[in-house]
Amino acid sequence: MNRRPLLAGNWKMHTTVMEACQLAAEIGKCSAGLADRDVLLAPPYTVLSEVAHVLQGSEVLIASQNVCWEEKGAFTGEISPTMVTSAGGSAAIIGHSERRQIFHEDEEIINKRVHGALTFGLMAIFCIGETLEEREADKTFELLESQIRAGLAGVTAEAMKKVVVAYEPVWAIGTGKTATKEQAQEVHAFIRKLLAEMFEKDIAESVRILYGGSVKPDNVDELMAQPDIDGALVGGAALDAESFCRIINFT
Ligand code: 13P
Repeated sequence: MNRRPLLAGNWKMHTTVMEACQLAAEIGKCSAGLADRDVLLAPPYTVLSEVAHVLQGSEVLIASQNVCWEEKGAFTGEISPTMVTSAGGSAAIIGHSERRQIFHEDEEIINKRVHGALTFGLMAIFCIGETLEEREADKTFELLESQIRAGLAGVTAEAMKKVVVAYEPVWAIGTGKTATKEQAQEVHAFIRKLLAEMFEKDIAESVRILYGGSVKPDNVDELMAQPDIDGALVGGAALDAESFCRIINFT
């Protein structure tokens, strides 16, 4: 199965309007002409439409860093799927470990967000990952399975065409401690096998599974060479145009 690589930059809570426009412009330039892969940026909500504007006419996709399940209403602090679309976005990151850990988003809320994104036609970049404690206690696979079953509960095989899974071991995020290519591949293969059980083989074969956690210019090539790693979700290195350009140009 030929899965189109997806290189995604999660800017987290970084960039002023000016910084965002500048960074987006540089990434737009260095991603021009990359016909065999998708590039995606997830800037803060405050600059979604500016970044979309700067990248108009380019192939770069825009995502929000989270999304609500309702279209509008009394949900202070939230962003709706249609707001994302109207700002020029076509995807949303959901269930990032920072949302789970710092803001205590639980499985039920994450599942509602996944459905919200899919209902309104956004691509859902659904994140999962174990903590160091869970890995050391040999709970990695059990934990990932429960996150996947809960987060994707009620999602149909057809809707899975708009889902991307991002495996981000919490211990590798922002720590400079990347999972080895073997560790990442082992988990990605496990996720794909589980998806085949939950949906069907064809779906599991076509879903893109991204790795995230200290992806850098010097480790992206070996990660991307793994058979079940279909892309990267990049934090820190996505804030530096030169680094991110190198990452999206992985060989
Ligand atoms: P770092 O690349 O900074 O480790 O962050 C990964 C991440 O959380 C992307 O969503």
